[in-house]
Amino acid sequence: MKTILITGGAGFIGANLVRRLLAARPDWRVVNLDALTYAGDLARLKEVEGDARYAFEKVDLSVRAAVAAVFERYPIFAVIHLAAESHVDRSILEPAVFIQSNVLGTQNLIDAARDAKVERFVHVSTDEVYGSLGATGRFRESSPLAPNSPYSASKAGSDLLVRAACHTFGFPAIVTRCSNNYGPWQFPEKLIPLIVCNAIEDKALPVYGDGQQVRDWIHVDDHCDGLLAALERGRCGEVYNLGAECERANLDVVKQVLQILGKREELIQFVADRPGHDRRYAIDPGKAKEELRWAPRHGFEEGLAATVRWYQDHREWVERVRSGSYRAYYDRQYAQRLVRPPEPRGTRP
Ligand code: NAD
Ligand code: TYD
Repeated sequence: MKTILITGGAGFIGANLVRRLLAARPDWRVVNLDALTYAGDLARLKEVEGDARYAFEKVDLSVRAAVAAVFERYPIFAVIHLAAESHVDRSILEPAVFIQSNVLGTQNLIDAARDAKVERFVHVSTDEVYGSLGATGRFRESSPLAPNSPYSASKAGSDLLVRAACHTFGFPAIVTRCSNNYGPWQFPEKLIPLIVCNAIEDKALPVYGDGQQVRDWIHVDDHCDGLLAALERGRCGEVYNLGAECERANLDVVKQVLQILGKREELIQFVADRPGHDRRYAIDPGKAKEELRWAPRHGFEEGLAATVRWYQDHREWVERVRSGSYRAYYDRQYAQRLVRPPEPRGTRP
C-alpha cells in the first residue's frame, strides 16, 4: 500500500482529486492535509469518509512543526500540493494571508517533504503566474512569469521556491500550471458558481468591467487527470501547462448560464472592474499532451450544463457555505457595486 499526501484536499479541486485517486488506485492510501479555511469543507468528501484508505489531518501549512509531524505519522511516497488561498478578489482585499499560506506554507511543505525523502512532489499552480495576454498568443511553459495580482504573485513565489529546491537539492518536483477550472463543489465566490447560484435565485449577476475578459476553461475532472498524469509520467524539474483550449469571454459564459436556466439577461449588472484585471488567459497544453499522454475529455457546453444542474440539486450545500463569513465577504466585495435586479416582467399589476 502506497501513501500519498494531498494538501488542500477539502477544497474544490483537491476533494475531486482525493475521490478520484481512491477510486482509481485501489492500492493507494490518501492522507488529506487541510486547514479547513472558509474554502475547505469536508462535505465534499462524505463518500470516502468511511474508507480505511483515507485519513484526514487538520493542519495549517504555515505551522512548520505540524506539517513535519504529518510526515512522521505516515510513510508518504508522494505529495500533490493544492492547498492555497485561491481567490483573486480576496487577495486584493487582504494580501497577507496569501503570502502566509501560499509562500511560507509551500516552503514548509517542501522542507518536510525533503526531510522525508519523498519520491515525487507535484506543485499545483496556475496560468495566472504568466500575467495577461493581448488578443493573440498563448502561454507556453517558457513564457515569462509576470503575475499581476497578489494571488498570482504568491503562486509565482511558490513556483519559484519549488524550482529552487529542484535546482539546489535535486528535490523531485514537477510544477503544473492549469487554466480556470469549473465543475461541481466549487465555492460560489468564483465566476461560474457565483453566477449560477445568483441566477437560480434571480439575484443580480455582477460582471466586472465590459465583460470581455477571456478565460480558458477546463473541467475539474480533466485537471485532476492531468495531475495524476504529471505525478506518474512527468519529468522532475519540468513545468507542464494544463488547459482544454476553451477560451470564452466572461459575458458569453454568463449569457450561456442564463440560457441553460431559462433566465432573463436583465439580471446582468455591469459593475466596477476588478483593479489590475487580467484581460486574457490562454494555455498551450501541447507539452502536457505529448509528454504526459494526457488529454481533456469534457466539452465546455456539456460540462457547463451538468455543472448548472449540480448546483440546482445542491442548494442546501450552497446555502450553508454562503452563510457566516461568506456574507461579510460578499457585502464587502459587491454591496457598493450592485443594485437590486428588476422584478421579472409581468409579475406586478
Ligand atoms: P479552494 O480555495 O477551493 O481550496 C483550497 C483548499 O486549501 C481549502 O480546502 C483550504 O482549506 C486549504 N488551505 C488554504 N490555506 C491552507 C493552509 N495554510 N494550510 C492548509 N490548507 C489550506 O481552491 P481550488 O480552486 O481547489 O484550488 C486548489 C489549487 O489549485 C490552488 O493551489 C490553486 O492555486 C490551484 N489552481 C486553481 C484553479 C482554479 O480555477 N480553481 C486553476 C489553476 C490552479
Ligand atoms: P474568477 O472566477 O475569480 O477567476 P480568476 O480571476 O482567477 O480568473 O473570475 C473569472 C473571471 O470572471 C475574471 O475575469 C473576473 C470575472 N468575474 C466577474 O466578472 N464577476 C464576478 O463576480 C467574479 C467573481 C469574477
